[in-house]
Amino acid sequence: MGVLIMKPMLLLMALLMPVAANAAPASKVAWTPERLSFVKNGNPDKGKALAASCAACHGDQGVSTNPAWPSLAAQNANYLYKQLRDYAGGERDHPLMTPIAQSLSEQDSADLAAWFSALPQPENPAVDTHNLDRAEKMVSEGDGKRILPPCFVCHGARGQGEKMDIPALAGQQADYFNQTLLDYKSGQRHNDIYSRMRLIAQQLSDEEIKELAQYYQQLR
Ligand code: HEC
Ligand code: HEC
Repeated sequence: MGVLIMKPMLLLMALLMPVAANAAPASKVAWTPERLSFVKNGNPDKGKALAASCAACHGDQGVSTNPAWPSLAAQNANYLYKQLRDYAGGERDHPLMTPIAQSLSEQDSADLAAWFSALPQPENPAVDTHNLDRAEKMVSEGDGKRILPPCFVCHGARGQGEKMDIPALAGQQADYFNQTLLDYKSGQRHNDIYSRMRLIAQQLSDEEIKELAQYYQQLR
């Protein structure tokens, strides 16, 4: 008798598990007016002192020392704050960044965001752009056939990012950019509110992602 009840119970649990996982919010950061002004009032001097511990990987001017790691200079402060809180809360996961973010308070995160966002944008050497035509078209026009919006409507015409939490892409390391889009595509990265980037990345080929990464790295 017990077994007969158990079996459907287990089946039901197995069916409900993925639903429950999907129902978890992409991020715990909610952009209330209070949260926006909290980040806006981050103290860049305190952030600078804390940033000494980030320099080995993200550079002392926010330009990362390894192309697989993201540059942080001139990045949108709200975006930086949100990523740090997402790593700390487990909504974004990485073996190097998760423990670091867990050691930071909300105030530390806002102070670091104020410091890195005020640094000048990384300038990468110009590259031969002849093979970036397809990427440029995706950025400025998107692809109506696949219902892909152009990247510029959110990330700005010069890849500068936009208010609220949309990151700047101009000057970002191509290797990091490539990998993080592949991570959205596979669902390994899932902290984008409303799945905005996962839905887009899923429709891009790996080749298109590589070209977009090169396009944005040379943009200034
Ligand atoms: C040991 C190397 C290392 C150190 C030290 C380090 N980081 Fe990182 N950081 C990384 C890597 C690698 C990633 C990309 C992880 C991923 O793909 O999710 C990253 C990602 C980030 C991101 C997300 C950037 C984006 O564009 O989405 C932020 C913000 C960040 N780090 C801030 C910091 C801050 C602030 C510190 C110092 C308190 C710090 N990191 C220290 C390696 C490091
Ligand atoms: C509907 C708005 C929207 C559009 C269109 C859009 N993005 Fe995004 N993108 C976002 C948001 C919001 C985030 C940050 C999500 C998060 O918090 O993880 C993001 C994050 C990213 C990141 C991660 C940046 C980092 O530092 O880790 C990359 C790379 C990116 N987008 C590339 C693109 C490309 C390429 C296109 C065009 C094919 C595009 N996006 C179109 C809204 C958009």
